[in-house]
Amino acid sequence: MKAIKIVRPGGPEVLKTIEVNEPRSAPGDLLVTVKATALNRADILQRMGRYPPPLGTDPDIPGLEFSGIVEQINPACGDFRPGDRVMGLLPGEGYAEKVSTPCYLAMPIPKHLSFEEAAAIPEVFLTAYDAVDLQLGMKRGETLLIHAVGSGVGTAALQLARVKGIRTIGTSSSDIKLNKAKELGLDLGINHLSEDLSEVLRGEIVDAILDLVGAIHWNANLTCLKACGRMVVVGLVGGRHVELDLGLLLRKRIKLIGTVLRSRTVKEKIGLIREFRENVLPLFEQERLKPIVDCVYDLEQAPAAHHYMEENRNFGKIVLKVGTGR
Ligand SMILES: NC(=O)c1ccc[n+]([C@@H]2O[C@H](COP(=O)([O-])OP(=O)(O)OC[C@H]3O[C@@H](n4cnc5c(N)ncnc54)[C@H](OP(=O)(O)O)[C@@H]3O)[C@@H](O)[C@H]2O)c1
Repeated sequence: MKAIKIVRPGGPEVLKTIEVNEPRSAPGDLLVTVKATALNRADILQRMGRYPPPLGTDPDIPGLEFSGIVEQINPACGDFRPGDRVMGLLPGEGYAEKVSTPCYLAMPIPKHLSFEEAAAIPEVFLTAYDAVDLQLGMKRGETLLIHAVGSGVGTAALQLARVKGIRTIGTSSSDIKLNKAKELGLDLGINHLSEDLSEVLRGEIVDAILDLVGAIHWNANLTCLKACGRMVVVGLVGGRHVELDLGLLLRKRIKLIGTVLRSRTVKEKIGLIREFRENVLPLFEQERLKPIVDCVYDLEQAPAAHHYMEENRNFGKIVLKVGTGR
């Protein structure tokens, strides 16, 4: 089968389309013919040799999610049958024509969605649901600050927050992305390049923060959180080192949480997916949530797709179509 391989650590040009063996299916796995996959920031780090995947996963084939058709079940498992349309999370190896996945990590694709739309769901909506609902425990009427609101995870979190009746403030370096976010329901957008974030967010105005960026907004984060505020750190594209006044954490009784999806055990991921299927998938069926696809490249164009992401041009997800994508 065809797959994209990282031939050595480096820029987008190190991604090459080559022939590799089909994945081996373990008992309880689904073998899936992939129709689409999607990019995540982790793929870029992995390509640079800075984010090795969990043990047992080929470090040279990136790809954390897929949508496709069940080809084989090994042995009969869960509620899936050959021919079913499925999507799901992977620890890696998603940039390929076939993937093998424990069946309890797969989810049915809502009927009205294409494979390309479905591939834009698993990683960012699971991350956002976990962060907004399970880690931050957001409640109706609260205010949530989302850094990089136009990112894949940001656009998912924004929609989940809107459905729950949460007020949202979002940051971006792009007015165009902020305007698109407003069309998705964002209440207040702040361009952190043209506005002084600490100034605009002065006063204790937010109940919680979904931080997809890291160090650069640290001081503004601590000042804008209300007493007993919560903050979950999910991404570090804006740096990882900060100076922390522990006294402020104490005084304001701030809860600071860090989280990551990829390195969780299969058991932990199965628990999350069970909850997601129950609480979030129906919202896609009811069209109250939608995958945000910025653009679609062919699998072989993975280098161009990586380049596009590294230039921060996407609003929502960058999808890779595999084969005909149908
Ligand atoms: N912990 C986990 O399990 C997990 C899972 C998925 C993703 N993540 C993390 O969540 C974040 C979002 O992921 P994604 O795939 O949704 O990303 P994405 O769609 O590629 O968006 C990332 C956005 O971050 C902003 N950004 C980039 N570099 C920046 C910098 N130096 N300073 C400030 N902002 C910067 C840009 O937004 P603007 O153009 O709007 O400024 C960029 O478009 C990433 O940090 C990723 O690593 C973590």
